[in-house]
This record gives sequence, C-alpha cells and structure tokens, in this order.
Amino acid sequence: MTILLTGAAGYIGSHTAIALAEAGYDVAIVDDFSNSSPEAVRRCEELTGAKMPLFNADVADKAAMRDIFAQVKPGAVMHFAGFKAVGESVAKPLMYYRNNLDTTLTLLECMAEAQVGPFIFSSSATVYGAKAKVPYTEESEIGGCTNPYGWTKFMIEQIASGAAKADPNMSVVLLRYFNPVGAHESGRIGENPTGIPNNLMPYITQVAVGRLPHLNVFGDDYDTPDGTGVRDYIHVVDLARGHVAALRYALEHKGTEVFNLGTGHGVSVLELVHAFEQATGVKVPYKIAPRRPGDLASVYADPSKAQRVLGWKAEKTVQDMCADSWRWQSSNPQGY
Ligand code: UD1
Repeated sequence: MTILLTGAAGYIGSHTAIALAEAGYDVAIVDDFSNSSPEAVRRCEELTGAKMPLFNADVADKAAMRDIFAQVKPGAVMHFAGFKAVGESVAKPLMYYRNNLDTTLTLLECMAEAQVGPFIFSSSATVYGAKAKVPYTEESEIGGCTNPYGWTKFMIEQIASGAAKADPNMSVVLLRYFNPVGAHESGRIGENPTGIPNNLMPYITQVAVGRLPHLNVFGDDYDTPDGTGVRDYIHVVDLARGHVAALRYALEHKGTEVFNLGTGHGVSVLELVHAFEQATGVKVPYKIAPRRPGDLASVYADPSKAQRVLGWKAEKTVQDMCADSWRWQSSNPQGY
C-alpha cells in the first residue's frame, strides 16, 4: 500500500517516511520545498533502499493534487505540510490561515473524490488552552491559542473531524506532538531551520557548532524546579514510529481519534542544556534573558492513551535526543 505524505521533505515527515518504508509501506511525497530540500528525500531513499516518488507541487493546487492522487493511488494520507513559525504567524496571520487551511481543504477534497479514507494529521500540543492543567490528556480543554499558527492547528482538527463525521469512509487520526527533537541515528537527516532557529534544540546545536554565540534562556523565574521553562521533548524517531502505529489504527477504524505523542516527562531548559553538554562533551554558553511572550511555565503530556490504544510509547532518552541532534548538526553544519 502506498502512503501519500505531504511536506515529507521536512523534519518530521522525512523521519516518518523512513519509518513507513521500514515497516513495509510504499511512500510517495508531495512538497513544494518552500521550507525544505529535496536532498532530504534523496537521503531517505539512500537510508532505506526504497524509492520514494517525489512530486514538486503546492498542496493547495487542486489540479496538481488530483493528478498526483491519480498516479499514486494512495491507501492513506499523512499531512505534514504547513507553515510552522509561531512569530511569523503573528506577523503574517493571513498568509498562515490561507496556506495551512487551503492546503488541508484541497487535500481532504481530493481524498473524498478518490475515496481515500485514512488521514493522519500533524497537530500540536499548542491546541491545549492556557487553562489546561499538566499533564495534558486528550480530554484537556483546547482552544484559546495565543497565535495564528496554533489556531490553524486547532481549526484543521475541527475541519478534519467534521469531514470524518460526514463521510463514513473516513478515518482521521489527530496527533498532538509535544516538542520534537533529535535526528535519525545515521546523522544523515535532521531538522534544518532556515535563518535563526526559534526552537530550543536547533538553537543549542547551532551555538555548539559555533554558528551562534550563546543561547538566550527565556526566563529563570517560572514556577518550575529550576525556574526555567519545562517541556516534553520527544525524539523524532519515536514520533515517526507513532505515525506508523497511528496508520495501522486508521486502517482498521473509522471516525476521529486524537492522541498525544509525548514522553510524559518534563525537562527544563537548563536540564536540556546540561544533558546536551554531557552527551556531546561540547559546552553551550548561555545567558539568562527575559521571558518570551506567550510561553507557558510547564507543558507535558499524559501519553497513556497512545500506549493503551496504539501500543506505542516513546523509548529514547534525553541523552539519545542530544547525541543524535548533535551528530546531525556537526556532520551537516550548514544543513542540507
Ligand atoms: C513552540 C511553539 C509551539 C510549536 C512548537 C514547535 C510557542 C509559544 N510555542 O513550542 O506552538 O508547536 O514550538 O516545535 O512558541 N527557549 C529558550 N531559548 C530559546 C528557545 C527556546 O529558552 O532560544 C525555551 C522556551 O522559552 C521554552 C523551551 O525553550 O521554555 C522550548 O521552546 P521551543 O523549542 O520554542 O518550543 P515551545 O515554545 O514549547
């Protein structure tokens, strides 16, 4: 069976393409390379020995997508494509709503036309409202997002589950990722942000490799054990395996299901910095800086539903996350 992946030249999609190929699925990819490189897919093919047909198209382009569906005849769709920079979404909200919603609507329309039922979506822990209490369960309150990026994730969850309600053939799985970090253990693929990274781990690795002078730790006066922000970092290879488990589920069920993909363990900014130094032997100079607007003190998952229903749980340690991020960054200092 062929699985059509949108945006799989990107960070999470490329790791999932490998996990799917290893699990015996055929993979086809559509990406417009607006924030990614075809080199990532070439390396996925090299690592797995599988051919991964790659279509250069905008997922919002209905004619192009119809054509791709006709050629690929997918048995399921995984939707990774989307704009994802929180700050940029505040500056360019219409661009974010237009892109993230248009691509999803076109994709769901093409799925309905071609009668493809299973749809796996890259959602985010960002959909949980600030009033939700940690650890977040799938029943925790959602909404009240602090930026347009988060609202697009929230809205797409509503759109996809509405589509599944109306079409008994559909099977929607919404995966709420916590903080994906790490890289494939080969060091051949990894996260490749354009410009100065917004997220913590790529920032740390770029400081370590000497591209940036020091890390700014955004706040040390939160109500957390060491005062710095606590997050649930999950190894991207564990996350990729979670998609294979979600696919198997979607192929056997109808309707909509939501799963948190996290480890259930909170790690502070300084704990991550020190774990990185320990795993790699490389010093990460840092300075305490003011809090970043919109940040919460502590965010981590209750991942027990994914374990119970999908038989999946995260297995890699924080040390693995740091060592693998570093292997990727140090062997590809300028990315792809
Ligand atoms: C952010 C987004 C979230 C998105 C996710 C994608 C916000 C409010 N949330 O999550 O919607 O889904 O990225 O991965 O932006 N930190 C520093 N210095 C840095 C960078 C980060 O101290 O240079 C701290 C942050 O304050 C936070 C932690 O590191 O405590 C993690 O930050 P980050 O990697 O940006 O992820 P989130 O903010 O959790």
